[in-house]
This record gives sequence, structure tokens and C-alpha cells, in this order.
Amino acid sequence: MSSEAGRIALHPIEARVLWALSSGERLSFGEVSRRTGLDRGAVAKSVERLASKGLVSVSEVTVRTVAELSGEGLEYSTKGLPERRLVDFLRSKGGRASLTELRSIEGTDEERVRIGVLWAKKQGWVEVAKEGDETYVELVSYPDYRTEEEMVLEALRSGPRSLEELGALAGAAARLSRRAGLVKLREEREHVVEATREGLLVAKSVEQPVDAVSQLTPELIKTGRWRSVHLIRYDVLAPVKPVFAAREHPLTSLIRRVREAFVELGFEEVQGPLVELAFWNFDALFQPQDHPAREMHDTFYLEWPSTGRLPEDLVGKVKEAHETGGDTGSKGWRYRWSADEASRLVLRTHTTATTIRYLAERREPPVKVFSVDRIFRNERVNWKRLAEFHQIEGILMDRGVGLRHLMGIIREFYARLGLKEVRFRPSYFPYTEPSAEVDVYFRDLERWVELGGMGVFRPEVTRPLGVKYPVLAWGLGLERLALIVHGLEDIRTFYLNDLSWIRSASTFAVR
Ligand code: PHE
Repeated sequence: MSSEAGRIALHPIEARVLWALSSGERLSFGEVSRRTGLDRGAVAKSVERLASKGLVSVSEVTVRTVAELSGEGLEYSTKGLPERRLVDFLRSKGGRASLTELRSIEGTDEERVRIGVLWAKKQGWVEVAKEGDETYVELVSYPDYRTEEEMVLEALRSGPRSLEELGALAGAAARLSRRAGLVKLREEREHVVEATREGLLVAKSVEQPVDAVSQLTPELIKTGRWRSVHLIRYDVLAPVKPVFAAREHPLTSLIRRVREAFVELGFEEVQGPLVELAFWNFDALFQPQDHPAREMHDTFYLEWPSTGRLPEDLVGKVKEAHETGGDTGSKGWRYRWSADEASRLVLRTHTTATTIRYLAERREPPVKVFSVDRIFRNERVNWKRLAEFHQIEGILMDRGVGLRHLMGIIREFYARLGLKEVRFRPSYFPYTEPSAEVDVYFRDLERWVELGGMGVFRPEVTRPLGVKYPVLAWGLGLERLALIVHGLEDIRTFYLNDLSWIRSASTFAVR
């Protein structure tokens, strides 16, 4: 027997793994690693070798079943199951309602009503009766307790749980999984290894492995024990677990690069409030009060507090600019400007609110400031649009500056990010004249991408603030730029905290 076993050459590490399995137990790789003191990579590799020699066998077992909510399950976990909403509604209507009335339950369609009635009936909460052309649903017994299903939805709302953790509720979780997949059950499997019959024989015949040592310590040298231990050779090809060092979020890196570029060009960073007076967001920028961008569907207005205090010293001048043009050389918009409208609070829709606010306090040239900050727009979020995003904003005020300088700054800025091809197209903003749109050429996409707007502030903007020199201004998209830099298609990627993307995203480099 031993001679037969002797023919099998075992590496000392393999011998240790085999020894750990010599009791015939079936162990997870993790357990083998604990018992042998070898890291998981070494265990996996030895197991593979042992398996190829027929000494161990590997299989997969389910270690636990994890329950998690589907999208619909998540919705029900906050709004309530259709049958719960049904009985709540019936109770509020005195215990009886027609199918037509039931459809008025908020967020409910015919299908949901049908589902609600079905399940409520099943549990004996309601009865259905037909009267003429109408079907009525009547509450017979209101459940003033939470059902097991409701408890499961509640428990899973904060994240997946194993069936074991759910304990007595496991049955209800399974029922919800059969019910339109409100709960998804996922099996977590693990590799386990055990010695084969032959492996057990070999384990008995090989000598108990001497200590294998992967690190020569002063201790080993001093005691002379290094002579008797088995020193493991380096295996530079051995597979190991990848190590992910901590890193900045790719968007943070890009923001940092943008800051560096402007600081290098002699600009200072400024910040302003996210909650802003409509006055700074719109009025000071000569946007008329009936401008479509101000409407609810673009701008988030604050419900409470709904208004703020206007800068009194500027109100009169801005009002004049809007109504008649005042001394700005313009005729104004010719309407009655309302201070109430201007004092409403909004989530700023662009960072131009922040630079104009700053400008009102620094009237002496030169002013060179920028900001990279968050803005808000009431948009439906999709692959190309977010409701919260960032703008790269800046102004330069000085004697004798003009459009050429502005184009120069923008070109230089993008060049510092490695983007050398920039073009400008005439455009319109209520606060600048001339105005232009900025396009940048992306080699990989082989196309021009619109990245922002710019222009020279109109006298209607600068004069009321007491600014006497030309002011160059720009507002550029950050996420758009980031999408292209990272070759992505979906703008939401930046906010998903998907670790595998964050780890794999290249550090910022544009070709
Ligand atoms: N505020 C504009 C926008 O949000 C961009 C812009 C800024 C245009 C400054 C001109 C001057 O699109």
C-alpha cells in the first residue's frame, strides 16, 4: 500500500492540504485555509493539483438561500400590498365601494385592483357582489394585524436576508416568491472539497508534513529551526486574489483635474448656496419672470421656506433693467417686475447663480473665479439625464477683455485635459451677448459633443450690479465630459456605486 502511495509525488503544500482532509470531512476552501494556515489562493491551487491526481474531489453545495425584493416587491414594501391598500380604502369609504371607485386608489390601475380583490377575497377580508351593471366589494373583516407577507416585505426592505435569518417567516417569503416573483430567492453556493478513497490512503501513508514556512523570520534563524522546516519556494505565477487599493471615485478625480486646470490659469474657486434666491438664479441674469426655464417642470421651488430676503441695494436697479432697461442702454423686457417672484427660493439650476452673486460683491477688476459644483433640474432621470449634476462655471472680469479672450480660456482649459479640438457655435442666453455653445471633438467617438455655453455678460446684467468692465462667463457640463472621458453611455453609472466599474475605470486620461 505505502509503496503504491509513494509513487505519487506530493508537493509539501499539497501534503498539508491532504492532511487537513484526512479525517474524511468535507470542508470549504475557507475552512481548509484556516486549518492549514495557507492562503486561499494556495489552497485552491493545491486542491486543483490534488484533484488532477485523483486524491480529492470538489463539489458545490448550497450554503444558504437568500431572499430579496424584486422591483415590484420593493414598491409594495413601501406603498403596501394591493389587498392592504384595498381594505384601507374600503374602510375609509365606510366598508363598501364599486370597482370603478376602487380604481381611484392612488397609483392603481385595473390590474392592481383585480389583484387586490383576488388576494383580499382569498383571505376572507372582502366579499364581492354584483348589483346591476356594477360590481361592489364589501369589507367583511378588516385585518388589524400585519400578515406574515407584510412582515417579510418589511424585513427585506432594508436589504436581502437569508431564509435562516427570516426564521418563521421563511414560508411567507417562499409564498411571495411564487406570487409574481415579489421576492426573489437566490441560492448562495460554495465549493467544498473532500479526500477521495485513494486520497485517504495516501494521506495515511505520507509523513505528517513538517512545518512549511513561507517567511523566514529572525526567530527561525536564531533558533536554527530553519534547518528543519520546509521553506516554500516562491511561485511568482501562483494565482492570488486581486488586491484593490483604495482609490478616488472617477468623478472626484475629474473634478480635481478641472480644479487644477483653472488654478493653474490663475483662477480662484468660489462656492455658493445650493438653495438660492430666484433673484440670483434668474433675475440678476436678466431672465424675464415669465421665462420658460423658471417653470415648475424645470426648476425645483422650495416649499418651506418658500422665500428669502432680497439684497435691497440691488433690487431697484434690477427691476429697472427688466422693466425699462434703466441706464443700461436697453429697453428692458417691458413688463411689471415682481419682487415676490424674485424672492422665491429654488435649488439653483445653474452655477451662474453663484458667479453672479460673487460678482455683485467684487466690482473692481480683475476678477477671475471658477466653481465646480452641483445643480438641480426637475428632469426625468434616464441614461442621458440626471436631476442633480455638476457644472464647471467661471467668470473673468477685466478691462478690455472680449470674446477672443473667452475662446482662448476655454480652449486652454480643455487642452489641459488633453482635448485639443474645440469649436464655438453662435447661440443665445438671456444674459450674454455675444453667446456661444462650446463643442469638443472626441477622437474615439469621431464626433463633436456639445459641452456647454459661454458669452460676455450683457450690460443689463452688469450695470445694475455696478460693474463697469466686460465680464466673460461660461458654464460647462461635468458629467457629459466624464461620460466621454470614460467611454460610457449611461450617465447614471457615476452614481450607482458599482464597485466593479469604479475599480476598473481608468484614472483620468484622454487620448
Ligand atoms: N448657465 C448656462 C447653462 O446652464 C451656461 C452659461 C454660463 C452660458 C455662462 C453663458 C454664460 O447652460
